[in-house]
Order: sequence, then structure tokens, then C-alpha cells
Amino acid sequence: MCGIVGYVGSQSALEVVMAGLKRLEYRGYDSAGVAVPADGGLAAAKKAGKLVNLEKELTERPLPTGTTGIGHTRWATHGGPTDANAHPHLDNAGRVAVVHNGIIENFAVLRAELAERGHELFSETDTEVVAHLLAEEFSVTADLAEAMRLVCRRLDGAFTLVAVHADEPDVVVGARRNSPLVVGVGEGEAFLASDVAAFIAHTRSAIELGQDQVVELRRDGVTVTGFDGSPADVRSYHVDWDASAAEKGGYDYFMLKEIAEQPKAVADTLLGRIDAAGSLTLDEVRISASELREVDKVVIVACGTAFHAGLIAKYAIEHWTRIPCEVELASEFRYRDPILDSRSLVIAISQSGETMDTLMALRHAREQGSKVLAICNTNGSTIPRESDAVLYTHAGPEVAVASTKAFLTQLVACYLVALYLGQVRGTKWGDEISAVIRDLARISGSVERVLETMEPVRELARSLAGKDTVLFLGRHVGYPVALEGALKLKELAYMHAEGFAAGELKHGPIALIEDDLPVVVVVPSPRGRSVLHDKIVSNIQEIRARGARTIVIAEEGDEAVVPYADHLVRVPVTPTLLQPLVATVPLQVFACELATARGNEVDQPRNLAKSVTVE
Ligand code: F6R
Repeated sequence: MCGIVGYVGSQSALEVVMAGLKRLEYRGYDSAGVAVPADGGLAAAKKAGKLVNLEKELTERPLPTGTTGIGHTRWATHGGPTDANAHPHLDNAGRVAVVHNGIIENFAVLRAELAERGHELFSETDTEVVAHLLAEEFSVTADLAEAMRLVCRRLDGAFTLVAVHADEPDVVVGARRNSPLVVGVGEGEAFLASDVAAFIAHTRSAIELGQDQVVELRRDGVTVTGFDGSPADVRSYHVDWDASAAEKGGYDYFMLKEIAEQPKAVADTLLGRIDAAGSLTLDEVRISASELREVDKVVIVACGTAFHAGLIAKYAIEHWTRIPCEVELASEFRYRDPILDSRSLVIAISQSGETMDTLMALRHAREQGSKVLAICNTNGSTIPRESDAVLYTHAGPEVAVASTKAFLTQLVACYLVALYLGQVRGTKWGDEISAVIRDLARISGSVERVLETMEPVRELARSLAGKDTVLFLGRHVGYPVALEGALKLKELAYMHAEGFAAGELKHGPIALIEDDLPVVVVVPSPRGRSVLHDKIVSNIQEIRARGARTIVIAEEGDEAVVPYADHLVRVPVTPTLLQPLVATVPLQVFACELATARGNEVDQPRNLAKSVTVE
């Protein structure tokens, strides 16, 4: 939930850390702070509010320069967003500073113990206890890495910790349990961060830290051990995107840039998945064909937008493979004793690969003997590491809190998995699979065309800025699209927005319709499953008769909707199952523009964080 940066090298640590925090601000933005060992002591600054407040503080009261430093951008869990609760937290002597992402569950007990030993704690956070414990252990060991190992063994919960000590000014120590932390290795310098975006401008050489590991960073090298001090095996990897991918590139917001990147993201996610004979080859899916043939149930677990991708995947999986597929919110799944066994295939969808609810769901599934396949956008993150197999989406870094390009690429990955299951199990013929792949290959161009025609959608959004409510209706795969459209509007425009299955209208929601209420309707293709199309046209008539202002998203050439659409948004002709890939795009643009028109922060909506690493 929070963003963490650590640096040791020969550059100004403050500059490196502040630039890194800027890149991580999407992870949390209610307070920020830095600490630098310098001149035999430790200098720290922290401020509630966005990073600019800390920048201002550092201009008004500059810290001494040093070449080792840590920084933090916070999304509050324990204690409100105040200066006192901002990280870093220091011990009473001000010799050790620590930043933290996660939750230390036994902090109350530890705090009471510390108080008994005469420590004074000033914040409401769970983190502050760690600074005091580190100080105690350091006074015995005079070794920050060893002190960290000893402290970590006493902590319960999920945590990434990064610390510096005035007595070891050329060392940064980090620890990781259940929260992300990656190491960057440069020439005579090293970095620690919650996400490679923080150091990508300096190095693309990264090391993935495992569970329960402590890392010690010095200019001349990096040492990784387990919490028990045993040497640890680490995986090094090369980050395959560069600094420009993490910049706004001329757009006002990351979200706009990420919406515009969708044609490429979709195309990239398809790359290299087809062999010379035209068969699907999902090399990363390290679950054998015979195991996949045994699967008698697919269960998809995910949160938020990724959950909506899962809802759409269900239609494709069941249609193409005839395997029953359940889709469940990861936070619900784990606490209801789901029925799973070795023949269940669990698919965990996550952009960040760090969402705690999804991670816990997949762990539960593996404990039941099920195979877990991750669909993920972040190389080296926890969810793919803990899964039996992974299919990476190639969306590139997604920085805006509201997910856009990751969603489209999750859909592509889901379609690929569904087709692959169909191929392996023989429920789809090779030529049928090739035909769908050809349709998928055309989607990139279709999304491009949708993006070129968005000005009327932006205009419409601006005209609705004063409204309180917008409803979204869809049927079949259009229903999860409606849910996604409503979610985008809630999180960005802070408006009341609801998505409904259009067939449910008469069972209650139609009572909400009143004069001039904007209702967005996602209309399926009139081709193929025309029953669906006809039914939704009737639904549009029903709401319009009751005064709704209809905003209709329909395929090019669909004339049946024209008389009932107050606003018509055209999308290219697309097979029904794949239609979410094009129909979602206008809804993203709509929400983004409405948020702008209402003066909201597009990339960092209130109360939200990009990566939800607490339950
Ligand atoms: C909405 C959004 C969130 C995420 C959800 C899951 O725009 O971004 O709903 O989709 O928090 O995150 P990941 O995919 O990282 O597991």
C-alpha cells in the first residue's frame, strides 16, 4: 500500500530517494518522509499530505547531504495521515530510522513491552515499535542487518521494512514478508524499492527478494539472507521496460497515457503465443497438458477491475471448454470454505501481483491441492512467484490508480487461457482457435479506432459533471463491462454509479429511473446472438419511456438502437465474446473526463491506493 525507496551509492541520496518516491506516489499519497545518515547523525523530514508538502519542507529546511537514504510515501492503515504518523519512524535516540509497508499485527503487545522498558512512542502507527526494537538489538549486535533479522523474527503480519542507522552510514537494510520489495543493482550503488519504477532511471538490473528475507545494501554489493541468517538464493532479472515507460510522455495524466497505450498493450500480450503451426503455446503455463485435461472446475479469484476481467473470462471458458467456471471476489473466497481439490484449476488475476486478498486466496487454493495459474502484469511479484504457473500480461507499468490497460490485457490473457484449455482438452478445433486468434489480433486496431472517435464522449462527460448518479446496464459479457464502467466512475468521479444486468431491471433497479437520469447501455452485437441484442433494445425502450437519458454503446451498423439512443457511441464490429475489449474503452474515457471536469485528481483518487497489500 505504501511506497518505499532506499539508496546507497555516491549520488545525493535525497535526490535519488525523492525521485523514486515520485514514481511510487501512486501507491500511497497521504504523507511522505525521508531519512539520511549524515555528519555522524541521522537527519529526517516528514510531512502529511502529498509529496509536494515534503518537497516544500525540504526546501524550507534542507537536510544535510548524504549518499545513503530511505524514503516513504504512505497510505494510512494504523493512525491517520498526520506528520507524527508519517514515516520514517525513529528510536528515542534518533539513531535509527525505519519505513514500513504492511501491517504488524502484534504491535500492541510489542508497544506495551517497549513502554515497560522505558521507551517513549509518539505516533499511532504499528511501525514505530520497529525503530525501537532495532535500536535495542543494534545496541547489542552493532550490525543493522543482524538487528533486522532478530526483530523480524518477533513480528507477526505482513511487512516490508527498510532501515538506516547513524552508526552504519553506508548501509541500508531491508526485510520482506508478504509485501513487495525489489533490489536494484547499479555500478557502485544499490537501490531498494516497492516497485522497479523507483529506480528504473538508474538501473534495469533487479533482484527479486523471497519471503522472509533480509537484504543488506552496500555500495560494493548486496547480501541476502533468511530471517534466520542462512544465505539465500536470489533470482536476478532484467527489467524489460525503460524509464520513459514510467513517465507521462506528454499526457496530462498517467491514466490518459495508459488508455492511449491500450492498442499496443493488447498486441504485446498476444505476441509470441502462437507457434509456426498456428497452435497456441503458452510456455509460461507450466501445468502439464495431462493435468489440464483432468481439470473439472475452474475458479477465478481477483479483486476490483481484475475481478471484472474474471467475470468476462467465465463466459469464454465455459463456452469454449465446457468446464464449469466460478468467479469469486478473492476477499470472499477464502473465508467461506470453498470446495476445491486437485482437479480444480484456480486462476488468480492481478495487475500488481501483490494484492493481499488475491494472494491469500491462492495460498488457500494451493493448500487444498489445487493448481494455481496467475495472470499478472508485474514480473517478480508475489502472486506469480507463489503460483504453479503464470501468464504475464504485457501492459507495461500501470501507474494511474484506476486500472485501464491492465484490464484489457487481463482479458486477452483470459481468452488465451480459455482457448488453450480448449486446445489441450480438444473442445476446440485448431481452425476455430485460429479464427479467434485472428479476431483477437484485430482488436488492437479496433481499440485504436475507438480512441480516435472519443471527442463526443468527452463532451458528453463534461456536460454531465453536475449529475449525481449514472447507471450502467449490460447483458452477457456486457454486464461485467457495465460493472467496470460504474467502478471507474465511482473511483474517479466520486459519483454514485451502479452497474446492473439489464435483465434484472424489472426486478428492482428500474425504480431508480427518473427524468434525465443518465443510463449507459452496453449493447451486444446484433450478429450471432441476436436474442441478446433484441432483449437489450427492449430494455433501452423501457428506461427511455421512464425518462432516462440513454447513452448507448453499440456496434457500427447496428441501426436498431438509433431511435432510442439520446447519445450513441459506436464501437467496431467485434464478436460478442470479445466485445468487452472495445466496449470498455469509451467508459474509461468517460470516467476520466468526468473526473477532470469535476476537478478531481485523476491519477490519485481520494482514499485509494494502486496496490492493496493489506486485507
Ligand atoms: C480499479 C482498480 C482496482 C484493482 C484491484 C486489484 O480501477 O484498479 O479495483 O483492479 O485493486 O488490483 P490488482 O489487479 O493489482 O490485484
